[in-house]
Amino acid sequence: MRRLLLALVAAATAAGCDSPALTVDIAHIADATTARYPVRSDLMPVGDLGAPPRWYSAGAPPLRVLKLDAAAPDAEFVAQLKPKLGRAILDPEKDLTPELRKELAAFLDAAFGTPAAPVVRPVTVKDAEKLKVYEAYTEGRAGKSAAQATEEAATEAAAAVEQLGLTDAALARGAVLYRRWCAECHGPSGAGDGIHAVAGTAMPRDYRRGVFKFVTAFPPGTPRKGELGKPRKDDLRRSITNGLPGSMMPAFAQLTTADIDDLAGYVIHLSVRGEAEFDWMTRMIQLTKNPNEDDPDYSRALGQQTLALRVLLTLGNWGRAEANRIPVPPENTPTPTDRLASAARGFRVFTSTCASCHQNYGRTQQLKFDVWGTVVQPRNLTLGVYRGGRRGEDLYARVYAGIYASTMPDSKAKAGAVPADQPDAIWDAVHFLQALADPRDRMLLGQFDPTIRIE
Ligand code: HEC
Ligand code: HEC
Repeated sequence: MRRLLLALVAAATAAGCDSPALTVDIAHIADATTARYPVRSDLMPVGDLGAPPRWYSAGAPPLRVLKLDAAAPDAEFVAQLKPKLGRAILDPEKDLTPELRKELAAFLDAAFGTPAAPVVRPVTVKDAEKLKVYEAYTEGRAGKSAAQATEEAATEAAAAVEQLGLTDAALARGAVLYRRWCAECHGPSGAGDGIHAVAGTAMPRDYRRGVFKFVTAFPPGTPRKGELGKPRKDDLRRSITNGLPGSMMPAFAQLTTADIDDLAGYVIHLSVRGEAEFDWMTRMIQLTKNPNEDDPDYSRALGQQTLALRVLLTLGNWGRAEANRIPVPPENTPTPTDRLASAARGFRVFTSTCASCHQNYGRTQQLKFDVWGTVVQPRNLTLGVYRGGRRGEDLYARVYAGIYASTMPDSKAKAGAVPADQPDAIWDAVHFLQALADPRDRMLLGQFDPTIRIE
């Protein structure tokens, strides 16, 4: 019956309005019980893309236009990026043999299941040892033996799965909710390529880079590969519940806490799968392209080792993010005058460290490529609309950790550990942001410190 209905919708669509993409995508959702996740075939930005053309607009779709080639509406964009193919931009469809892609699909299916039966199944300590996952790698070993590092990675990953609640049952529930509420924008595999993924002010997030923008985690030491930009599960819950104001992403406040939790878990599943796939592809393309690599001969064992280890390390990073919540010290501005003095100091922080990107407080176009090769505009900070929330603690986290995916640097180094009786430069910046977005506060700030003039 359901199939019939969908067939009718498809027929009506074909006859009525001309939107072939719609019929295709509905078919995919209808087939959710039998579908497999697609193996990535879109272009992967892995290096410096330069600066976007000035006339371009924020939210422009990522490198997909490159594949359209002659039909691309943005010929100049294509001309700028085409020479970067093969170096800063990899093409997993062309750069990997069909055999390799098939093997990857089999590895990924074993570790992550299907849309109808999603799992997160990292290899166990025992299997990791049998596979010798660290054979091909030295990353993150820091003086440890391969055996020690293997055991540690597998133990950390298992702990993360447990802590994040990524049980088969929760993931299966999350998958159904995701297809109902999210896939239309974020796409069946979390690639941000659903039917409604149009160039608005921002493209729907592609989870497959393992990087998120509005996070409250930051590694205390030297970050491991893939650690920066990892959210806490709470960050995902918050983004889903509240939406991201100023973007297409709606609030899902009508869903229950349990539903939001299952959705967040499923987003993690898609993200871990996608990041492992991305890392594996990047590594395999390097190996097959570079004849001087130590180990140019791809072997099935190497592919399996590489993927198994990527899954372990990625999950380890998710676990670390849970543990590394940004410390937000209490605000130390008891009186309105303290607050103005803090905002005035924040104005100077802003001029010296933020204004180069947020030119004219973000009102001047100053486009950047983010890690997805999507175009972003440093936020217009006079409006008081923030995707990641507008409470003091939200802004504190943003300034502290920066927005790794969008090139906004962190200020952690400057903050250090601030003694309780001393001004905290991050709170100062936050108080300035709050004053900047409020016409009355802006006037008061100008009266408090006449050298500060904001037109
Ligand atoms: C109408 C389109 C749309 C729908 C529906 C939608 N999203 Fe989004 N979502 C977006 C856009 C656009 C962004 C990126 C906004 C940005 O980059 O500022 C986004 C970003 C996100 C992010 C990333 C937040 C971050 O910190 O980077 C998460 C997580 C997310 N969405 C989860 C979901 C989930 C789960 C659902 C379903 C319950 C959903 N979205 C439904 C459009 C949508
Ligand atoms: C290298 C460029 C760069 C610098 C320097 C920079 N930003 Fe940003 N900032 C951005 C970009 C790009 C965005 C938009 C991110 C997006 O939506 O992808 C942004 C967004 C923001 C946001 C919006 C967050 C949200 O939740 O929507 C705030 C607040 C912000 N920046 C504050 C600051 C402050 C304060 C400083 C200085 C301490 C600063 N930025 C320095 C590039 C920069």
